Amino acid sequence: ADMTPKILRGRLLSFSTAPKGPDDTDAYSYIEDGALLLRGGKIAACGEFADVAATADEGTAIIDHRPHLILPGFIDTHIHFPQAQVIASWADQLLDWLNDYTFPAEMKFADKAHGERIAKAFYDALVAHGTTTASAYCSSHPASVDAYFEEAERRGMLMLGGKTMMDRNAPADLCDTAQSAYDDSKALLKKWNGRGRAHYVVTPRFAITSTPGQLEAAGTLLREYPDCHLQTHINENHNEIAYTLELYPEAADYLGVYEGFGLLGRKTLLGHCIHMNDRELGVMRETGSVAVFCPTSNLFLGSGLFNKAGLEQAGVRTAIATDVGGGTNYSMLRTLDEGYKVLQLQRQRLHPLACFHWITLGNAEALSLQDRIGTLEPGTDADLVVLDARATQTMALRMETAESLSEELFVLQTLGDDRAVVETYAAGKALKS
Ligand code: GUN
Ligand code: ZN
Repeated sequence: ADMTPKILRGRLLSFSTAPKGPDDTDAYSYIEDGALLLRGGKIAACGEFADVAATADEGTAIIDHRPHLILPGFIDTHIHFPQAQVIASWADQLLDWLNDYTFPAEMKFADKAHGERIAKAFYDALVAHGTTTASAYCSSHPASVDAYFEEAERRGMLMLGGKTMMDRNAPADLCDTAQSAYDDSKALLKKWNGRGRAHYVVTPRFAITSTPGQLEAAGTLLREYPDCHLQTHINENHNEIAYTLELYPEAADYLGVYEGFGLLGRKTLLGHCIHMNDRELGVMRETGSVAVFCPTSNLFLGSGLFNKAGLEQAGVRTAIATDVGGGTNYSMLRTLDEGYKVLQLQRQRLHPLACFHWITLGNAEALSLQDRIGTLEPGTDADLVVLDARATQTMALRMETAESLSEELFVLQTLGDDRAVVETYAAGKALKS
């Protein structure tokens, strides 16, 4: 953390709850001439510039980000660190894409030096795109987890992640065993969970690549370390679902597989959740498990349309994520744009205020980390993004006629990408400049 106190001046936007509609001004705080006092990696004060400046010590450095917006840093709830060289690979749908591109790329992470090189590039990409926290799948090699968390530690970033557990239906060099996955995950968990800002996530890839014995081991780990997260994939693709039900004929449905091994709960992140039946929706709600929407991936792999309204009407918690490299962009702004279109196709309306809540506080709540990240509340970690809605000529021209904050946010999500990210702060430290 950067220990020197400083003041950031700019237009502050932070949410306190999910906006119910375009006019729900109670859901957020917007301060036109606002400021944040950062101290010891945390937000020490947040308010009108004049008030914050008056409370700060004489001579505190002021970084003037006007006329830009300052928001909590973006949170990506599902991404694959070893797929940085898989993004943009021309393949058929999920299972072919995994076999033809993804597994070969992940095999290279047996080499620690490769993991270290990709980790640097991976974090450079997150920072460039304004993402301050992500939950990542590492490869099945423990060394990839070390490379992943070591680089996060260097940058002071709050990151979640874990070793991918996979013991069948993949190349031998990528497979562990039920026992080695348990032992390696446990050792990594003990080493990293709670060290600095690191959070370990128990990470069985999905039912197709885990034997029942391995899913059992994942459940045992979760019972031993109930504060840990679990992440996996579910109901993404029709062939995937059919194969899963062949491998687990006794399960009621796909979710029933994970349910049977005790893998569900409020810290369980389930990627995709596209093709869900009513029983599965009920179990998701009862267990508080989170459905993670990955729009650029779902469109790229032709997987299907995430039914946000259906999930939320059923009482299921939701999050949004890039899913790079099945996903095609590191940007949570690009992700919102594509997510908006997926919902448009289903006649579901998503307002830009709800969008920016989703990639900040909404995703923080999905990760049960809302006390640390996702808002500008004093006492929370100083993870921030500074956004310029006039970053490109196309954006600047459109902004000439924008008359409200909501319109500005919609320009950012529809036209913005890394060019709109002026600065990214993690634990009070500027990481771009
Ligand atoms: N299902 C199992 N593994 C993967 C993966 O790496 N990406 C996606 N999108 N789905 C998966
Ligand atoms: Zn994924």
